Amino acid sequence: MTVILGIETSCDETAAAIVTQEQHVLASIVASQMHVHAPYGGVVPELASRQHLRDLPRVVEEAFQQADLGWDDIDGIAVTYAPGLMGALLVGLSWAKAAAFAGQLPFIGVNHLEGHLFAAELNQPPLPYPFLGLVASGGHTCLYLVHSGDLPDYELLAKTRDDAVGEAFDKVAKLLGLPYPGGPAIESAASASQPTSLKFTVPRMKDGSLDFSYSGLKTAVRYLLETQAKEGKTYSAEEIAAAFQKTIVDDLVRKTLLTMQAHPVKALVLTGGVAANRPLRERFTVAAKAKNLPFFCPPIAWCTDNAAMIAAVGARYLKAGKRSDWNLPAIANVELIPATPYVKSA
Ligand code: KG4
Ligand code: ZN
Repeated sequence: MTVILGIETSCDETAAAIVTQEQHVLASIVASQMHVHAPYGGVVPELASRQHLRDLPRVVEEAFQQADLGWDDIDGIAVTYAPGLMGALLVGLSWAKAAAFAGQLPFIGVNHLEGHLFAAELNQPPLPYPFLGLVASGGHTCLYLVHSGDLPDYELLAKTRDDAVGEAFDKVAKLLGLPYPGGPAIESAASASQPTSLKFTVPRMKDGSLDFSYSGLKTAVRYLLETQAKEGKTYSAEEIAAAFQKTIVDDLVRKTLLTMQAHPVKALVLTGGVAANRPLRERFTVAAKAKNLPFFCPPIAWCTDNAAMIAAVGARYLKAGKRSDWNLPAIANVELIPATPYVKSA
């Protein structure tokens, strides 16, 4: 049995996991830093790096215990090297390089977005190609057409032009006085809303592109709150949360379906932290069913940041005889497409 240790520290979750080459998860441990960042209403990069340093050795130890395995059972170490917070990435990357070097194990740098896409394959049969994958997270809103090959090939069809979708949830929650992280808080507030006529819109791109843009939506919520404060309150936080969430869900579903008209695919994948949103999952399920298309969305624990998805991608690279250079840098901003040059034949 070939077994990979995965490490993920790109943002505010310290995670370690142990996964087999067949994408079977033997252990997955996630230490959330939510309590560290909640008082600030968002992730504080320096605090994130320091907390990763504190938590990572314990989290790896717990993963070994959960899998009932030891260092001698590991065949390689996969770690997120990009994209993410520079300091946070560096903690995991440096730790993984040191552990791989000391244990004379192959070391594989994994793009976090590639991890999110293939979280849909954890403990599941392989995804059929080509598939359309929407990564909706705190840092990204990316729609990828994924082709098969020796290793999967990625075509970025649409991306955010400003705020990522999870970022919009977090910022609007803050405006509404809801706690951090904003996604679950908005989902819960929205579910308590009465039906209203309140509607928001998102801009249509003049160039006809299907790119996403949510910063205007956030501003519309702010204007509404300011106007309400002057003129007397009309809509409750729950009602605004519901209208905001509906606008986002409608936009994500509409653009994904439009993309499919030009790109016939064999499956639809929804992943990333925002994919934990129940109304979004339900709307995608219905839309895929109407198109007779298999729909894959990981369980919530694997939609949000975790290391099992990183180990799984690492296992694929290792199987294809690839590994990373010891001098692989951490990269804060990088698309999924140029990830491959950083991985060379073993
Ligand atoms: O994938 P993730 O854990 O980290 C990044 O790679 O960014 O995504 C975190 C984001 C946060 O913005 C959080 O508010 C959002 O996912 N999120 C949700 C829900 N749960 C988490 N957004 C909407 N509804 C949810 N239930
Ligand atoms: Zn993520």
